[in-house]
Amino acid sequence: MKLQVIIGSTRPNRVTEKLAKWVAGEASLLADTSVELVDLADYQLPFLDEPMSPRYNPDRQINPEAGKWVSKLAEADAYVFVTPEYNHSISGVLKNALDYVTFELVKKPATVVGHGTVGGARAIMHLKEILSESQAAIIPKAVAFAGASQSIDDNGVLDPVVKAESYGPQGALTATLEELKWYSDALSEARSKT
Ligand SMILES: Cc1cc2nc3c(=O)[nH]c(=O)nc-3n(C[C@H](O)[C@H](O)[C@H](O)COP(=O)(O)O)c2cc1C
Repeated sequence: MKLQVIIGSTRPNRVTEKLAKWVAGEASLLADTSVELVDLADYQLPFLDEPMSPRYNPDRQINPEAGKWVSKLAEADAYVFVTPEYNHSISGVLKNALDYVTFELVKKPATVVGHGTVGGARAIMHLKEILSESQAAIIPKAVAFAGASQSIDDNGVLDPVVKAESYGPQGALTATLEELKWYSDALSEARSKT
């Protein structure tokens, strides 16, 4: 599985980056898996400025920076979007970045790791809905992490006490990544036949 972990916020001191490092570290333990952290902060995306919906524009002239972003997405065959909850939804930068996407995610599995006061639950639900338009295969499992800012250090290491919780974020992430891998293997094979 060629997995990308997308860091869905860009502000200084963001917690999402730490969370994404934790996700990437855990994903790297999966068999036959390469993991890449993709940071929206590395792409200077203007607010979508195209004259037509990108999916329906046969003469699309994509902004070069946006072109780099969607080409990066196209390289992977599975995705974990790590998102904060801002005002009961995802960040504006992540929504804008997804507005550039056309067919890069089609029939590839994707899931969400969210965080916020209620584990980013509302952002997770919004993001799953948004991603459905990309025709990604949104898998059933996701991770809602409350208290991430106190539980993960700058290197993405989870507090051992939290890690040991019976129904905590560690178990949720492990189960989610295993499910993502299952779908990725199944869908990679299916895509190769069509
Ligand atoms: C503009 C803004 C709006 C926020 N709105 C919510 C919210 O609606 N619900 C929530 O649980 N947390 C909310 N928070 C708290 C964030 O989830 C928390 O600060 C988180 O660390 C943000 O991710 P980041 O550090 O990667 O930016 C908000 C934070 C910001 C900056």
